[in-house]
Amino acid sequence: MQLEKTNIILGITGGIAAYKTPDLVRKLIAKGAKVRVVMTESAKEFVSPLALQAVSGNPVSDDLLDKDAEAAMGHIELARWADKLLVAPATANFMAKLTHGLADDLLSTLCLATPAPIVIAPAMNQQMWLADATQANLKILEQRRIQLLGPAQGEQACGDVGPGRMLEPQEIADLLAQQIFEQVLAGKRITITAGPTREEIDPVRYLSNHSSGKMGYALAIAAQELGATVTLISGPVNLLPPAKIKTISVSSAQQMHDAVMQTTHDCDIFIGCAAVADYRVQQKTNQKIKKSDSELTLTFIKNPDILSDVAHLANAPFTLGFAAETQNLREYALGKLQRKKLNMIAANDVSDSTIGFNSEQNALSVFWSKGEKKLDVADKQLLARQLMRLVAQRYTEDTND
Ligand code: C5P
Repeated sequence: MQLEKTNIILGITGGIAAYKTPDLVRKLIAKGAKVRVVMTESAKEFVSPLALQAVSGNPVSDDLLDKDAEAAMGHIELARWADKLLVAPATANFMAKLTHGLADDLLSTLCLATPAPIVIAPAMNQQMWLADATQANLKILEQRRIQLLGPAQGEQACGDVGPGRMLEPQEIADLLAQQIFEQVLAGKRITITAGPTREEIDPVRYLSNHSSGKMGYALAIAAQELGATVTLISGPVNLLPPAKIKTISVSSAQQMHDAVMQTTHDCDIFIGCAAVADYRVQQKTNQKIKKSDSELTLTFIKNPDILSDVAHLANAPFTLGFAAETQNLREYALGKLQRKKLNMIAANDVSDSTIGFNSEQNALSVFWSKGEKKLDVADKQLLARQLMRLVAQRYTEDTND
């Protein structure tokens, strides 16, 4: 019974896939969950509250202003009761409401009032799913750690074919059970570096690189989903700090090095995902450099290698490094694995401009001393989840050796 002792609020919004929700309730209960159903007004056009009451064994809630329902289990109490709030199907309209924090009915109010993680299983026409507004909302929701199940590709009720179908009830129940029970990094402390560093040349200029920080941030979220306590040490990026993750902002490689070294004494896993500048200007000037001569010569000195320094500590945590390469991926990655004394290295081919730096997608080849695994092109958050599972596996096997 994978969902034993798990209280789930199932929020149902008004899409045709709502007709599958009595089956979803049964699948969740079959795994041991306790389910309370909350419906929006339009959901009731697609599926009967009575059917949902019968299968869940609990009264269905649908009204924020119902005195009797509030007296039985008020909305704040209901919000606190939940271990997970699952919205399935989640319409485009509901996703938009969630993005903007509207609270004009019971379900949207619960989403603001619950401390429980929110999971959505979207269902809508493929054009609506691909619409810029929906995709922009999705990005914000993912940044806020709202988890996404699906949607699946395929034939839709309207006759279109494409992404937007709700996952099948069994798939939703299986994925939810996996998420709840895969707390394989519970009690572990993980430090992750992300983004670029900035090396100042004078008060107005600096040297940096194209790293967006997306992969490091996605890894921090994935690690926390698996139960780890995460510290994210980030260079300057255009991303919101992930909710509930301790995020330390730094600018230069030296600052990143100092911040990392302060966390390593109680760190189980260290992931160096930042694109750290290898060099800094030897002598930063206090005044703006004037363009007087036809040439300008600056002398650079080497920055500390943060990852290597951590991996060489006497009591080193389990270390994962990254290698961005334009050629000989395997050979260079394996060289770094050895030279820096790492436990694992994830290499990506940055000569392909559709993946890697600044893109939404990435693909990785992961190497460790006794094996390797390819993670195919995928959205960075999805890839980060796959990579974190692999790290957790390797970490557990290494520490049990
Ligand atoms: O040697 P290279 O820069 O290719 O190694 C990349 C890996 O080393 C990345 O994981 C990066 O975060 C880390 N690194 C570091 N400090 C540096 C340079 C790289 O932590 N000064």
